[in-house]
Amino acid sequence: MNSISLEATTRMLVISGKGILAADESLPTIQKRFKALGIESTEETRRAYRELLFTTGGIEKFISGVILFEETLRQKTAGGSSFVEVLTRKGIIPGIKVDKGTIGMPNSLQEKITAGRDGLRERLQEYVRLGARFTKWRAVITIGAAIPSRACMYVNAHDLALFAALSQEAGLVPIVEPEILMDGDHDIARCEEVTSAMLELVFDAIRAHHVMLDGMLLKPNMVLSGKQSAKQASPSEVADRTIRTLRRTVPAAVPGILFLSGGQTPELATEHLNIMNARGPHPWELSFSYARALQDPALKAWAGSASNAREAQYLFYQRAKCNGNARFGTYSKQMEKMAA
Ligand code: 13P
Repeated sequence: MNSISLEATTRMLVISGKGILAADESLPTIQKRFKALGIESTEETRRAYRELLFTTGGIEKFISGVILFEETLRQKTAGGSSFVEVLTRKGIIPGIKVDKGTIGMPNSLQEKITAGRDGLRERLQEYVRLGARFTKWRAVITIGAAIPSRACMYVNAHDLALFAALSQEAGLVPIVEPEILMDGDHDIARCEEVTSAMLELVFDAIRAHHVMLDGMLLKPNMVLSGKQSAKQASPSEVADRTIRTLRRTVPAAVPGILFLSGGQTPELATEHLNIMNARGPHPWELSFSYARALQDPALKAWAGSASNAREAQYLFYQRAKCNGNARFGTYSKQMEKMAA
């Protein structure tokens, strides 16, 4: 069904000036985001919200792919076109989150492992039939006094590699997402140490499973100060440490690195990406795969009411545009003013 090679799809996803919209919030996550704004989470409100995002005029100038949640992969616009068709018509590549969320790790319950490996090979076949061309699996690493443990990093690295190998077997490009959470009062040096250790383990496991590096993408966190830390590193330090960590750990054969936003403000997530690209060239494309940093202003403006759709789409377009510019290192704060 999908005759386009893994390398070709990978290259299209990281094409210059564009990035990925992560719209793959699980049912509990979207419920949390909706509830904070007084929006009820039903199959229909979730469908309407995703329709608003995907039908925003002109986003294909800045968005190369969209990560969908399984429910959304099967949904349609009010006019009856499947979301996969709507995106494909715009030249946007549909992908899918294939993990089943996180659960506590035995003997260290504040640490997480990711569910979803059972039956994955069969589910991937079904996603190919439904039109998905790439996949995503998220692993979560928490920083604390005595964590992360080696065991937690090890099991997550291997699950990511196995997911990547299974995806490629099915003809799907894997997006490997080891997220070091920004929660905590640790300093930026600690985040750099943990990010670096985790990425080393991830690529060891990826090699062990013979994952084709040219046909995969990495979705890491940026190297940041802990959210509750009194000392917040400057954007310039974040960019320096993130680039240094990635250069030390990510093989040059990987075509692209797409950052998650992780709870940064939309503006800061854009600024960080912009500085990193302005310091290029790098061995890989440096891009974005944001959920909150692309959607937050639009979701707030929509607030569950169709009458706000136009304003919400405008705000979503502006965030996509600012990040599209950050791919070239040409974003400026002036662009935010134009967005207001
Ligand atoms: P955020 O950009 O909101 O961190 O989400 C990215 C994502 O896909 C998390 O899995």
